[in-house]
Amino acid sequence: MKGKRLTMILVLCVMAVTLAACGAEKPVDVNAIMAQPKSFVGSDTCKKCHLEHYDSWKMTMHSRMTQDAQKNQDAIITEISEEKIREDLAKLGDKLKVPADKIYIPKTEEIRYTIGSQWKQRFIVEKDSTLYISPIQYNADTHRWVNYHEADWDKRPWLLKCGGCHATGVDLEKGTFKETGVACEACHGKGSWHAALPKTEIFEKRQTIVNPGKLTMGVAVQICGSCHNRGKSTKVKGAGWPVGYEPGKALEAFYQSTSYAGGDVKHLYANEFSKGHHQQYIDWVQSQHYKEGVTCTSCHFVHQIGMPPTRSQTLSAGSKQCFECHVTMNKLRAHKLHSFGNCIGCHMPRIAKSAESGDIHSHVFVTLLPEDTLKNPDIPNSCQACHKHKDDDLKHLHKEAFGEEPDESAEKTEDGGGVPE
Ligand code: HEC
Ligand code: HEC
Ligand code: HEC
Ligand code: HEC
Ligand code: HEC
Ligand code: HEC
Ligand code: HEC
Ligand code: HEC
Repeated sequence: MKGKRLTMILVLCVMAVTLAACGAEKPVDVNAIMAQPKSFVGSDTCKKCHLEHYDSWKMTMHSRMTQDAQKNQDAIITEISEEKIREDLAKLGDKLKVPADKIYIPKTEEIRYTIGSQWKQRFIVEKDSTLYISPIQYNADTHRWVNYHEADWDKRPWLLKCGGCHATGVDLEKGTFKETGVACEACHGKGSWHAALPKTEIFEKRQTIVNPGKLTMGVAVQICGSCHNRGKSTKVKGAGWPVGYEPGKALEAFYQSTSYAGGDVKHLYANEFSKGHHQQYIDWVQSQHYKEGVTCTSCHFVHQIGMPPTRSQTLSAGSKQCFECHVTMNKLRAHKLHSFGNCIGCHMPRIAKSAESGDIHSHVFVTLLPEDTLKNPDIPNSCQACHKHKDDDLKHLHKEAFGEEPDESAEKTEDGGGVPE
């Protein structure tokens, strides 16, 4: 009898414990979930268990890239005043393919989503149930409106041209996306299996999600390279982003980066330094930092956990972070010129363009000297961002800096380069 009662108590205890556990977590049929292909669940699901990472992501521009303007009109950073917009457009004169008074200007209520806010903002509208980028752009620093594909804007579907870099979980066949902006699963991969497993299955959970911190350096940095890049999809014609790529995979199979040698004189200088924006990866692969394994996350955080906010999410402010690794420096040639330690001014000149020329830093980390420009006038240099004075002409600057005449033996490019916008 006694034995039986003990068993009963034990059974009850086990049931109580199980019930308590069940109360905390709904029972899930994990096998059934894992029999399905992985899918996107959205950041709000991740938030349930990773509040700190969620919060820190909300602090970054990644979360704010594309915003639903119908849910939140404050996402539009300026006033959509047709009068002011047409006035600005008219100033562009010959540059316009459609006369300023004929360019389509969306009404505030027509704007479905905003793209960007830091350098510039563009606006997504719907036409014949497809999303397009409307033909106007607001440049944030100069408060100026400019044109954007005014003649063919409604032939360039947003999801095909831009979608994968500015939204998460884009499905081109269905014409849908899971979430606006660069969300958790853009960097960690589809999360349905991971989210479905109970919290207690720690080891299994780790295997069902990509942790960039545990990938080899080359594969991890390609996650950033899947967006901070310019080129074309190898899978879908006309797509500007790596359709089918997932974090943890090799990017080259899905994407071909653009280059000057390949004919892209619009987005690169003749020395393959970037002229266009979102090309940090293209710059970086040419650098010594790439060879030595100094990657995007050696200098940038993506989760602002335990980090003070900095411009562009750098691990420490400005040139200070260069000193974290470059403890000693030579005092030769260029390094003896200045009394201050502005490493970025020379090694990361602002020679690329997002909204206005020179608002984006080079990521090749090589100083462009007066000589480089003297040899090929289409190539900018690091010095003239500060040395703008007319007496600072390049030959003079070079001589003053290095005490010798510059070597101007021409290295001019065959087509003369040209600096289109
Ligand atoms: C039901 C709770 C839960 C949900 C929902 C959840 N996670 Fe997790 N996650 C965990 C637990 C528990 C771990 C394992 C403990 C740990 O490594 O910190 C984990 C681990 C991770 C790791 C580290 C993996 C490793 O190999 O070290 C990442 C990255 C991660 N989760 C991202 C996500 C993302 C992205 C989402 C949304 C798609 C998500 N999680 C949704 C609970 C959850
Ligand atoms: C832009 C890419 C990116 C986005 C977006 C992103 N993460 Fe991460 N996450 C990373 C990288 C890279 C790491 C590796 C550690 C680091 O550098 O901070 C990481 C680390 C983590 C970890 C810690 C893993 C560990 O080492 O224990 C968790 C958990 C996590 N992320 C969850 C999330 C969640 C949840 C979201 C969305 C709210 C999110 N991440 C959005 C890139 C991203
Ligand atoms: C799915 C595309 C995507 C991925 C993946 C991605 N980024 Fe970004 N990143 C963006 C976009 C888009 C912006 C611009 C956001 C804006 O201005 O609203 C951006 C902005 C940034 C910025 C500038 C932030 C600021 O405050 O100005 C940094 C730094 C950055 N990303 C680093 C990274 C790193 C490091 C990784 C890899 C761990 C990464 N990104 C992965 C798309 C992406
Ligand atoms: C290969 C990925 C990729 C594609 C394709 C892409 N972008 Fe971007 N875009 C980025 C990244 C990364 C940034 C932020 C870094 C930078 O500008 O250097 C950015 C920045 C922007 C910004 C400025 C953000 C800000 O806060 O000022 C706008 C606006 C924008 N993109 C619109 C578009 C539109 C419209 C398209 C399609 C015609 C497009 N992008 C295609 C990756 C991409
Ligand atoms: C050696 C350090 C270093 C590395 C490596 C690095 N960055 Fe940067 N990045 C910087 C600095 C410094 C800035 C400018 C910060 C400022 O404005 O103060 C910057 C700026 C940016 C910006 C803002 C746009 C601009 O030019 O102002 C983006 C986006 C960005 N980096 C993305 C990346 C990506 C993606 C990678 C990897 C391919 C990368 N960075 C590698 C140091 C680095
Ligand atoms: C995480 C460590 C780290 C950080 C941060 C870092 N570097 Fe480096 N850097 C290296 C390493 C390692 C090398 C290769 C060995 C060497 O030349 O010292 C290198 C090389 C260089 C080179 C030599 C390039 C060549 O062609 O020989 C320059 C220039 C440079 N870094 C500039 C910078 C600047 C500017 C910053 C700040 C924006 C910076 N680095 C931040 C680690 C770093
Ligand atoms: C006046 C412009 C200028 C400034 C400011 C400057 N550099 Fe340089 N640096 C150069 C030039 C020019 C070279 C020669 C190689 C090249 O062309 O990049 C060079 C070379 C280097 C190298 C590789 C050569 C070596 O062995 O030292 C490193 C590393 C470097 N600089 C780091 C820094 C750091 C860190 C700072 C900030 C404290 C800095 N530089 C500030 C112009 C500059
Ligand atoms: C971030 C701004 C900045 C950049 C980038 C910069 N300079 Fe300077 N430069 C200055 C300032 C300010 C002074 C005067 C103060 C001083 O000597 O520190 C100066 C002084 C000089 C001097 C001394 C002559 C004089 O007028 O006193 C020479 C030579 C010089 N720079 C050459 C160069 C060259 C060559 C480059 C490019 C490789 C360059 N600078 C890049 C800001 C800059």
